[in-house]
Amino acid sequence: MRVITAPDPIDAPGIKWGILAPGHIANRFVTEVHRYTLSRIAAVGSRDFARAQQFATEHGIERAYGSYAELVDDPTIDAIYVANPHSEHHAAALLALESGKPVLVEKAFTINAAQAEDVFTLAKRQGLFAMEAMWSRFLPHYPTVKALIDDGDLGEVVGVTANHSQPLNFNPEGRLLNPALAGGALLDLGIYPMSFFHYLLGSPTTVHAEGVLTETGVDQREAITLGFAAGAYGLSYCDLSAAGTNPAEIIGTVGRIDIPGWFYQPQNIVFTPLNGEPITLRTKVEGGFQYEAAEAARCIRDGRVESGVISWADTVAVLRTTDAIRAQLGVVYPQER
Ligand SMILES: NC(=O)c1ccc[n+]([C@@H]2O[C@H](COP(=O)([O-])OP(=O)(O)OC[C@H]3O[C@@H](n4cnc5c(N)ncnc54)[C@H](OP(=O)(O)O)[C@@H]3O)[C@@H](O)[C@H]2O)c1
Repeated sequence: MRVITAPDPIDAPGIKWGILAPGHIANRFVTEVHRYTLSRIAAVGSRDFARAQQFATEHGIERAYGSYAELVDDPTIDAIYVANPHSEHHAAALLALESGKPVLVEKAFTINAAQAEDVFTLAKRQGLFAMEAMWSRFLPHYPTVKALIDDGDLGEVVGVTANHSQPLNFNPEGRLLNPALAGGALLDLGIYPMSFFHYLLGSPTTVHAEGVLTETGVDQREAITLGFAAGAYGLSYCDLSAAGTNPAEIIGTVGRIDIPGWFYQPQNIVFTPLNGEPITLRTKVEGGFQYEAAEAARCIRDGRVESGVISWADTVAVLRTTDAIRAQLGVVYPQER
Protein backbone atom coordinates (compact mmCIF):
# COMPACT_ATOMS: atom_id res chain seq x y z
CA MET A 1 0.00 0.00 0.00
CA ARG A 2 1.57 3.26 -1.18
CA VAL A 3 1.23 6.73 0.31
CA ILE A 4 2.08 9.27 -2.39
CA THR A 5 3.99 12.29 -1.18
CA ALA A 6 3.52 15.34 -3.39
CA PRO A 7 6.72 17.22 -4.31
CA ASP A 8 7.42 19.81 -1.60
CA PRO A 9 6.17 23.19 -2.91
CA ILE A 10 9.19 24.90 -1.36
CA ASP A 11 11.37 23.07 -3.91
CA ALA A 12 9.44 24.50 -6.90
CA PRO A 13 10.99 27.45 -8.77
CA GLY A 14 9.99 30.87 -7.45
CA ILE A 15 7.96 32.94 -9.91
CA LYS A 16 6.18 36.31 -9.76
CA TRP A 17 2.40 36.13 -9.69
CA GLY A 18 -0.15 38.78 -10.55
CA ILE A 19 -3.55 38.48 -8.86
CA LEU A 20 -6.54 39.27 -11.07
CA ALA A 21 -9.50 40.11 -8.77
CA PRO A 22 -8.57 40.43 -5.09
CA GLY A 23 -11.55 38.76 -3.41
CA HIS A 24 -12.19 36.06 -0.85
CA ILE A 25 -10.25 33.21 -2.44
CA ALA A 26 -7.39 35.39 -3.70
CA ASN A 27 -6.64 36.16 -0.04
CA ARG A 28 -6.08 32.50 0.67
CA PHE A 29 -4.01 31.92 -2.48
CA VAL A 30 -1.68 34.82 -1.64
CA THR A 31 -1.30 33.77 2.00
CA GLU A 32 -0.41 30.16 1.16
CA VAL A 33 1.89 30.99 -1.77
CA HIS A 34 3.81 33.40 0.47
CA ARG A 35 3.90 31.00 3.42
CA TYR A 36 4.84 27.78 1.64
CA THR A 37 6.64 28.60 -1.65
CA LEU A 38 9.52 30.68 -3.02
CA SER A 39 7.10 32.47 -5.38
CA ARG A 40 5.93 35.98 -4.61
CA ILE A 41 2.86 38.01 -5.46
CA ALA A 42 4.30 41.01 -7.27
CA ALA A 43 1.13 42.82 -8.37
CA VAL A 44 -2.64 42.87 -7.99
CA GLY A 45 -5.32 44.21 -10.31
CA SER A 46 -8.90 45.07 -9.46
CA ARG A 47 -11.73 46.86 -11.26
CA ASP A 48 -11.41 49.28 -8.36
CA PHE A 49 -8.00 50.83 -7.68
CA ALA A 50 -8.72 51.41 -3.97
CA ARG A 51 -9.55 47.70 -3.54
CA ALA A 52 -6.32 46.70 -5.27
CA GLN A 53 -4.34 49.12 -3.10
CA GLN A 54 -5.91 47.83 0.11
CA PHE A 55 -5.21 44.20 -0.84
CA ALA A 56 -1.61 45.12 -1.78
CA THR A 57 -1.09 46.80 1.59
CA GLU A 58 -2.56 43.86 3.51
CA HIS A 59 -0.29 41.34 1.77
CA GLY A 60 2.87 43.41 1.21
CA ILE A 61 2.41 43.38 -2.58
CA GLU A 62 4.55 45.89 -4.49
CA ARG A 63 2.20 47.10 -7.23
CA ALA A 64 -1.56 47.71 -7.41
CA TYR A 65 -3.55 48.40 -10.58
CA GLY A 66 -7.08 49.74 -11.10
CA SER A 67 -7.74 47.53 -14.13
CA TYR A 68 -7.04 43.99 -15.27
CA ALA A 69 -5.56 45.31 -18.54
CA GLU A 70 -2.81 47.17 -16.67
CA LEU A 71 -2.08 44.10 -14.53
CA VAL A 72 -1.61 41.73 -17.46
CA ASP A 73 0.62 44.30 -19.21
CA ASP A 74 3.07 44.40 -16.28
CA PRO A 75 6.27 43.01 -17.84
CA THR A 76 7.67 41.79 -14.52
CA ILE A 77 4.84 39.31 -13.91
CA ASP A 78 5.41 35.64 -14.82
CA ALA A 79 1.81 34.37 -14.44
CA ILE A 80 -1.72 35.52 -13.65
CA TYR A 81 -4.04 33.91 -11.08
CA VAL A 82 -7.65 34.52 -12.21
CA ALA A 83 -9.98 34.73 -9.20
CA ASN A 84 -13.16 36.55 -10.22
CA PRO A 85 -16.61 34.90 -10.57
CA HIS A 86 -16.86 31.94 -13.01
CA SER A 87 -18.74 34.05 -15.55
CA GLU A 88 -15.70 36.32 -15.90
CA HIS A 89 -12.96 33.65 -16.18
CA HIS A 90 -13.23 33.29 -19.97
CA ALA A 91 -12.66 37.00 -20.67
CA ALA A 92 -9.97 37.35 -18.00
CA ALA A 93 -8.01 34.30 -19.16
CA LEU A 94 -8.16 35.45 -22.80
CA LEU A 95 -7.00 38.93 -21.77
CA ALA A 96 -4.00 37.53 -19.92
CA LEU A 97 -3.05 35.05 -22.65
CA GLU A 98 -3.34 37.74 -25.34
CA SER A 99 -0.86 39.79 -23.29
CA GLY A 100 1.55 36.87 -23.25
CA LYS A 101 0.90 35.75 -19.67
CA PRO A 102 0.36 32.15 -18.50
CA VAL A 103 -2.79 31.62 -16.42
CA LEU A 104 -3.99 29.63 -13.42
CA VAL A 105 -7.78 29.97 -13.45
CA GLU A 106 -10.03 29.27 -10.46
CA LYS A 107 -12.70 26.60 -10.64
CA ALA A 108 -15.08 26.40 -12.35
CA PHE A 109 -12.54 27.09 -15.13
CA THR A 110 -15.29 28.63 -17.31
CA ILE A 111 -19.07 28.38 -17.36
CA ASN A 112 -19.12 25.67 -20.03
CA ALA A 113 -16.91 23.41 -22.14
CA ALA A 114 -17.03 25.65 -25.22
CA GLN A 115 -15.55 28.58 -23.29
CA ALA A 116 -12.79 26.35 -21.90
CA GLU A 117 -11.92 25.16 -25.41
CA ASP A 118 -11.58 28.82 -26.48
CA VAL A 119 -9.10 29.48 -23.68
CA PHE A 120 -7.01 26.38 -24.41
CA THR A 121 -7.03 27.13 -28.14
CA LEU A 122 -5.52 30.55 -27.43
CA ALA A 123 -3.04 29.10 -24.91
CA LYS A 124 -1.91 26.60 -27.55
CA ARG A 125 -1.59 29.31 -30.22
CA GLN A 126 0.41 31.51 -27.85
CA GLY A 127 2.47 28.60 -26.52
CA LEU A 128 1.50 29.57 -22.96
CA PHE A 129 0.66 27.58 -19.86
CA ALA A 130 -2.98 27.42 -18.74
CA MET A 131 -4.46 25.32 -15.93
CA GLU A 132 -7.65 25.01 -13.90
CA ALA A 133 -7.00 25.75 -10.22
CA MET A 134 -8.61 22.48 -9.08
CA TRP A 135 -6.28 22.51 -6.07
CA SER A 136 -7.41 19.17 -4.60
CA ARG A 137 -5.79 17.18 -7.42
CA PHE A 138 -2.37 18.30 -6.18
CA LEU A 139 -2.91 17.31 -2.54
CA PRO A 140 -1.25 14.03 -1.47
CA HIS A 141 -4.49 12.18 -0.66
CA TYR A 142 -5.82 12.33 -4.24
CA PRO A 143 -2.87 10.54 -5.90
CA THR A 144 -2.75 8.15 -2.93
CA VAL A 145 -6.38 7.14 -3.57
CA LYS A 146 -5.49 6.67 -7.23
CA ALA A 147 -2.41 4.59 -6.39
CA LEU A 148 -4.46 2.24 -4.18
CA ILE A 149 -6.90 1.77 -7.06
CA ASP A 150 -4.12 1.29 -9.65
CA ASP A 151 -2.32 -1.21 -7.40
CA GLY A 152 -5.49 -3.32 -7.09
CA ASP A 153 -5.93 -2.79 -3.33
CA LEU A 154 -9.66 -2.17 -3.85
CA GLY A 155 -10.24 -4.85 -6.50
CA GLU A 156 -12.71 -3.54 -9.04
CA VAL A 157 -14.02 -0.06 -8.19
CA VAL A 158 -17.80 -0.25 -8.42
CA GLY A 159 -19.00 2.96 -6.79
CA VAL A 160 -17.75 6.37 -5.69
CA THR A 161 -19.82 8.74 -3.60
CA ALA A 162 -18.81 12.36 -2.99
CA ASN A 163 -21.07 15.06 -1.62
CA HIS A 164 -20.70 18.78 -1.22
CA SER A 165 -23.14 21.04 0.59
CA GLN A 166 -22.45 24.42 2.16
CA PRO A 167 -24.99 27.07 3.17
CA LEU A 168 -23.89 29.87 0.83
CA ASN A 169 -27.23 31.40 -0.12
CA PHE A 170 -27.19 34.23 2.42
CA ASN A 171 -26.56 37.03 -0.08
CA PRO A 172 -29.24 37.37 -2.78
CA GLU A 173 -27.00 39.84 -4.65
CA GLY A 174 -23.87 37.65 -4.44
CA ARG A 175 -22.30 35.58 -7.20
CA LEU A 176 -23.75 32.27 -5.94
CA LEU A 177 -27.39 33.09 -6.65
CA ASN A 178 -26.90 35.30 -9.69
CA PRO A 179 -27.36 33.61 -13.11
CA ALA A 180 -25.36 36.40 -14.82
CA LEU A 181 -22.37 35.42 -12.64
CA ALA A 182 -22.93 31.70 -13.38
CA GLY A 183 -24.24 31.02 -9.88
CA GLY A 184 -25.59 27.73 -8.58
CA ALA A 185 -24.48 24.75 -6.50
CA LEU A 186 -23.06 22.73 -9.40
CA LEU A 187 -20.32 25.05 -10.67
CA ASP A 188 -19.35 26.20 -7.20
CA LEU A 189 -19.66 23.02 -5.09
CA GLY A 190 -20.58 20.14 -7.40
CA ILE A 191 -17.51 20.79 -9.53
CA TYR A 192 -15.40 19.09 -6.82
CA PRO A 193 -17.28 15.75 -6.86
CA MET A 194 -17.51 15.89 -10.67
CA SER A 195 -13.77 16.49 -11.02
CA PHE A 196 -13.10 13.70 -8.47
CA PHE A 197 -15.21 11.20 -10.44
CA HIS A 198 -13.39 12.14 -13.64
CA TYR A 199 -10.02 11.84 -11.87
CA LEU A 200 -10.77 8.31 -10.67
CA LEU A 201 -13.05 6.89 -13.36
CA GLY A 202 -12.66 9.01 -16.52
CA SER A 203 -15.57 10.46 -18.46
CA PRO A 204 -19.04 9.08 -17.75
CA THR A 205 -21.10 7.33 -20.40
CA THR A 206 -24.41 8.29 -18.76
CA VAL A 207 -25.46 11.35 -16.74
CA HIS A 208 -28.67 11.63 -14.71
CA ALA A 209 -29.51 14.66 -12.58
CA GLU A 210 -32.49 16.15 -10.86
CA GLY A 211 -32.66 19.18 -8.65
CA VAL A 212 -34.38 22.25 -7.33
CA LEU A 213 -33.75 25.75 -8.64
CA THR A 214 -33.62 29.00 -6.66
CA GLU A 215 -36.08 31.81 -7.36
CA THR A 216 -33.26 33.43 -9.34
CA GLY A 217 -33.08 30.40 -11.66
CA VAL A 218 -29.82 28.75 -10.63
CA ASP A 219 -29.52 25.26 -9.12
CA GLN A 220 -29.93 25.21 -5.36
CA ARG A 221 -29.52 21.46 -4.92
CA GLU A 222 -29.13 18.41 -7.09
CA ALA A 223 -28.72 14.65 -6.96
CA ILE A 224 -26.42 13.31 -9.67
CA THR A 225 -25.69 9.79 -10.92
CA LEU A 226 -22.88 9.21 -13.40
CA GLY A 227 -22.42 5.82 -15.08
CA PHE A 228 -19.01 4.68 -16.36
CA ALA A 229 -18.11 2.21 -19.09
CA ALA A 230 -16.53 -0.25 -16.65
CA GLY A 231 -19.89 -0.57 -14.86
CA ALA A 232 -19.03 1.74 -11.92
CA TYR A 233 -21.24 4.56 -10.68
CA GLY A 234 -20.53 7.98 -9.21
CA LEU A 235 -23.18 9.42 -6.89
CA SER A 236 -23.31 12.97 -5.59
CA TYR A 237 -25.58 15.29 -3.63
CA CYS A 238 -24.79 19.02 -3.75
CA ASP A 239 -26.61 21.90 -2.10
CA LEU A 240 -25.85 25.58 -1.55
CA SER A 241 -28.54 26.06 1.09
CA ALA A 242 -27.56 23.44 3.69
CA ALA A 243 -24.49 22.21 5.58
CA GLY A 244 -23.15 18.72 4.81
CA THR A 245 -20.21 16.76 6.20
CA ASN A 246 -18.92 16.39 2.61
CA PRO A 247 -17.24 12.97 2.74
CA ALA A 248 -16.29 10.63 -0.09
CA GLU A 249 -16.22 6.84 -0.28
CA ILE A 250 -14.56 4.73 -2.95
CA ILE A 251 -16.04 1.25 -2.93
CA GLY A 252 -14.23 -1.71 -4.49
CA THR A 253 -14.90 -5.42 -4.55
CA VAL A 254 -12.08 -6.22 -2.09
CA GLY A 255 -11.67 -2.96 -0.18
CA ARG A 256 -12.94 0.53 0.48
CA ILE A 257 -11.45 3.97 0.98
CA ASP A 258 -13.15 6.59 3.14
CA ILE A 259 -12.27 10.26 3.08
CA PRO A 260 -14.16 11.08 6.24
CA GLY A 261 -13.76 14.86 6.36
CA TRP A 262 -14.39 17.33 3.55
CA PHE A 263 -13.09 15.08 0.82
CA TYR A 264 -11.48 17.72 -1.41
CA GLN A 265 -9.53 19.41 1.38
CA PRO A 266 -6.26 18.06 2.85
CA GLN A 267 -7.25 14.83 4.67
CA ASN A 268 -6.03 11.52 5.96
CA ILE A 269 -7.72 8.63 4.22
CA VAL A 270 -8.90 5.31 5.65
CA PHE A 271 -8.44 2.05 3.74
CA THR A 272 -10.54 -0.91 4.89
CA PRO A 273 -9.89 -4.29 3.25
CA LEU A 274 -12.96 -6.52 2.88
CA ASN A 275 -13.37 -8.26 6.28
CA GLY A 276 -10.28 -6.41 7.61
CA GLU A 277 -9.49 -3.61 10.03
CA PRO A 278 -9.40 0.04 8.91
CA ILE A 279 -5.92 1.44 8.21
CA THR A 280 -5.42 5.20 8.34
CA LEU A 281 -3.00 6.61 5.78
CA ARG A 282 -1.39 9.89 6.85
CA THR A 283 -1.87 12.12 3.83
CA LYS A 284 -3.05 15.34 5.50
CA VAL A 285 -0.95 18.45 4.86
CA GLU A 286 -1.06 22.07 5.99
CA GLY A 287 -2.42 24.80 3.74
CA GLY A 288 -3.28 23.43 0.31
CA PHE A 289 -3.12 26.02 -2.46
CA GLN A 290 0.69 25.97 -2.50
CA TYR A 291 0.60 22.59 -4.26
CA GLU A 292 -1.26 23.86 -7.34
CA ALA A 293 0.85 27.04 -7.37
CA ALA A 294 4.04 24.96 -7.24
CA GLU A 295 2.83 22.77 -10.14
CA ALA A 296 2.11 25.90 -12.20
CA ALA A 297 5.56 27.33 -11.39
CA ARG A 298 7.28 24.06 -12.38
CA CYS A 299 5.36 23.85 -15.68
CA ILE A 300 6.04 27.50 -16.55
CA ARG A 301 9.76 27.25 -15.78
CA ASP A 302 10.00 23.95 -17.74
CA GLY A 303 8.23 25.53 -20.73
CA ARG A 304 5.24 23.18 -20.48
CA VAL A 305 1.85 24.55 -21.59
CA GLU A 306 -0.26 22.08 -19.63
CA SER A 307 0.02 20.00 -16.48
CA GLY A 308 -0.11 16.21 -16.59
CA VAL A 309 -2.10 16.26 -13.35
CA ILE A 310 -5.03 18.19 -14.76
CA SER A 311 -4.76 18.34 -18.51
CA TRP A 312 -6.74 20.63 -20.80
CA ALA A 313 -8.76 17.61 -21.95
CA ASP A 314 -9.60 16.82 -18.30
CA THR A 315 -10.93 20.31 -17.63
CA VAL A 316 -13.01 20.28 -20.83
CA ALA A 317 -14.37 16.79 -20.05
CA VAL A 318 -15.51 17.85 -16.55
CA LEU A 319 -17.26 20.87 -18.04
CA ARG A 320 -18.96 18.64 -20.63
CA THR A 321 -20.38 16.70 -17.69
CA THR A 322 -21.55 19.86 -15.91
CA ASP A 323 -23.05 21.08 -19.22
CA ALA A 324 -25.04 17.84 -19.45
CA ILE A 325 -26.19 18.13 -15.83
CA ARG A 326 -27.25 21.76 -16.25
CA ALA A 327 -29.19 20.84 -19.40
CA GLN A 328 -31.17 18.30 -17.37
CA LEU A 329 -31.73 20.76 -14.52
CA GLY A 330 -32.78 23.54 -16.90
CA VAL A 331 -30.04 25.96 -15.82
CA VAL A 332 -29.05 28.14 -18.78
CA TYR A 333 -26.94 31.23 -18.13
CA PRO A 334 -27.81 34.50 -19.89
CA GLN A 335 -24.48 34.35 -21.81
CA GLU A 336 -25.61 31.02 -23.32
CA ARG A 337 -29.02 32.14 -24.61
N1 LIG B 1 -10.44 26.94 -4.77
C1 LIG B 1 -11.30 27.18 -3.81
O1 LIG B 1 -11.30 26.59 -2.75
C2 LIG B 1 -12.30 28.28 -4.03
C3 LIG B 1 -13.06 28.72 -2.96
C4 LIG B 1 -13.93 29.78 -3.18
C5 LIG B 1 -14.06 30.33 -4.45
N2 LIG B 1 -13.33 29.83 -5.48
C6 LIG B 1 -13.50 30.36 -6.84
O2 LIG B 1 -12.88 31.62 -6.93
C7 LIG B 1 -13.66 32.50 -7.74
C8 LIG B 1 -13.95 33.76 -6.93
O3 LIG B 1 -14.67 33.40 -5.77
P1 LIG B 1 -14.66 34.37 -4.47
O4 LIG B 1 -15.50 33.69 -3.46
O5 LIG B 1 -13.29 34.76 -4.15
O6 LIG B 1 -15.47 35.61 -5.07
P2 LIG B 1 -15.67 37.08 -4.49
O7 LIG B 1 -14.83 37.31 -3.30
O8 LIG B 1 -17.14 37.29 -4.38
O9 LIG B 1 -15.17 37.98 -5.70
C9 LIG B 1 -13.86 37.90 -6.16
C10 LIG B 1 -13.56 39.10 -7.03
O10 LIG B 1 -14.31 39.02 -8.23
C11 LIG B 1 -14.68 40.32 -8.66
N3 LIG B 1 -16.15 40.42 -8.69
C12 LIG B 1 -16.99 40.31 -7.63
N4 LIG B 1 -18.26 40.50 -8.04
C13 LIG B 1 -18.20 40.73 -9.37
C14 LIG B 1 -19.19 41.00 -10.36
N5 LIG B 1 -20.47 41.14 -10.04
N6 LIG B 1 -18.79 41.15 -11.64
C15 LIG B 1 -17.48 41.05 -11.96
N7 LIG B 1 -16.51 40.82 -11.05
C16 LIG B 1 -16.87 40.66 -9.78
C17 LIG B 1 -14.12 41.29 -7.66
O11 LIG B 1 -12.88 41.73 -8.16
P3 LIG B 1 -12.56 43.28 -8.41
O12 LIG B 1 -11.92 43.71 -7.14
O13 LIG B 1 -11.65 43.30 -9.57
O14 LIG B 1 -13.84 43.97 -8.68
C18 LIG B 1 -13.93 40.45 -6.43
O15 LIG B 1 -12.92 40.92 -5.61
C19 LIG B 1 -14.89 31.72 -8.16
O16 LIG B 1 -14.73 31.22 -9.47
C20 LIG B 1 -14.96 30.57 -7.16
O17 LIG B 1 -15.51 29.38 -7.67
C21 LIG B 1 -12.45 28.83 -5.30
